[in-house]
Formats: sequence, structure tokens, C-alpha cells
Amino acid sequence: MFLLKQSPCKVNLLLNILGKRADGFHELETLMQPVNVCDELAFERTRNGIELSCNDHSLPTDSGNLVFRAAESFRAATGISEGVKIHLEKKIPVAAGLGGGSGNAATTLLALNELFGGALPSEKLIHIAAGLGSDIPFFLQDKPALAVGRGEQVQPLDFFPALRNKAFMLIHPGFGISTPWAYKNLARFPAALNGPKGRGKKLAALLQSDDLNAAAPEFYNSLEAPAFEKFPVLKLFKDFLASNGARAALMSGSGSATFAICDSVPAAEALIEKFKSRFGPNCWTAVVRNVSQP
Ligand code: C5P
Repeated sequence: MFLLKQSPCKVNLLLNILGKRADGFHELETLMQPVNVCDELAFERTRNGIELSCNDHSLPTDSGNLVFRAAESFRAATGISEGVKIHLEKKIPVAAGLGGGSGNAATTLLALNELFGGALPSEKLIHIAAGLGSDIPFFLQDKPALAVGRGEQVQPLDFFPALRNKAFMLIHPGFGISTPWAYKNLARFPAALNGPKGRGKKLAALLQSDDLNAAAPEFYNSLEAPAFEKFPVLKLFKDFLASNGARAALMSGSGSATFAICDSVPAAEALIEKFKSRFGPNCWTAVVRNVSQP
């Protein structure tokens, strides 16, 4: 039996860090939006073991890869003796703050559950996902969500009316940012480390309006503070997009990707052209229509 799955990415419309916790993680509130730029994963049942291949040879294909670890956790939780062969076709940039690897892990859990006859209930999948990484439970569902705790407690939300018919453009500068590095360096920015609670609910409410204008100033990411200090070009990207037609622009997650929201796909494509004539042709870019209510 063979399964082919798309594995989408996300952007954080808001990432508000509330403080450092005793366990070393950070308490946060984040509004996560699925974005239809996807990796592809192919799954096939085998007699035993886990075999992973990937088109990007710089990525590990053993337990250094979240896909492999997700498959291991699934087999351990179900006790199945059969194996799986997985191929990962990467299109989403890595270490970008777009949740590519987290999405791949969640897609693997869902696919294996399908491939092996729904062996695990969704609560168990959520528990395994949260153990593998803070962002992974979000990708077990396909709606926007408010996530709290360390990001693993996910409250799915209806698609935001303010983003209906909008387009996302994504830019990756060609270098990645390590998530642990970003969180560690937040310590030097006390205001960003200790954000006021409630921004997530406020922005979610503003996005219920048809008009993005009221919501746009509330887009915020605490992790821009350390990222912009080390990589000032990311601040230049954001400011350029905001002053050249984007309705909103922000770094996603722990970076290094920046996203902009535009009124339409052609508007986003025109903005990319402007961006490339200002900063050169070398950045990875993508334009996609916003995922909205089916
Ligand atoms: O959970 P995940 O594996 O994605 O986290 C990677 C690293 O990011 C953690 O080891 C931690 O350093 C940092 N992190 C954090 N607080 C969070 C999420 C991640 O400090 N809420």
C-alpha cells in the first residue's frame, strides 16, 4: 500500500513570548496560519524497519530527521512489527521558521496511522507530536490556530475573514536561524522576552473583520529582536515589503523567512519583482493564495 501526502508550512501572524519557564522552554501565545507551500511525502509499507530518503542530501535520513523520529514513535506506540519506506521531497526551506520539519513529522504520524488502519486515537497522536516538538501538534489539523503553552496546546480557529482572497509571499534569505539560538538570545531583550498576555486573542478577534487594516498593526513577533540584531538585512526586507504594497509583513517563527500579505496573487508577484530588483535575484521566494474555508 502506497500513500502520497502534501505537507504544508505555516507562518506566525503573532508570536508573543510571555517569559522563560522553569523547564527551559518559553511560555508563549501564537497565531499560526497554514500556508499552501508544501513538501511531499511518499509512504509505503514494508516488512520491517524504517527507511527514509530525501531529495535534499544535506538533511539527515536517520534519527536526526523528525520524519524518522515520528515513524519510530509511531511504531513504538502501536507495537507494530512491520516497517515503512518514506521519501521526503523538500520544497520548503529549512531553519526558516516556516515549520517545514514539524509539518513533515505531523504528516508522517497521520499517514502512518492511515497506512496501518487508524491504530492510534487522535489524542495519542497529539501526545506523540507534542513530545517530538512544540510546533508539531498544530500540523495534525489544517486550520488557523491559537497555540499556547510552549506552542503545543492548539486551539483551532475558523479561517480568518480578513485574510479571505489574500495572497502570501514568502522570502528566505539563503541562511537559516537556529530556533534554540533565537530563544537563547531573547534573554538580552527583556521587553520582547516578557510580552503582555492577550495579544493572541486580540489579533484573532481583529482578523474576524473583513478589513485587514485594523489587524495589521497587531502582527508581532518577539523573536525579531535577536534575529534583526544579528541579521539586519531581515529588518530591511520587512520594511521594504511594508512600504511597497504589502498589507502586513513579519518574520515568521524564529526566522529566517519573512512573509508578506498582499491583496492578490498578482499583487504579491509584483511585490516579488520589486523586491528582487532592490535586493537581487538570489533569495528563495514563493507566492501562494491564502488557504481559506473550503
Ligand atoms: O520544541 P522544539 O523542539 O521545536 O524546540 C526547539 C528549541 O526551541 C527548544 O529546545 C528550546 O530551546 C526552544 N523553544 C523554547 N520555547 C518554546 C519552544 C521552543 O525555548 N516554547
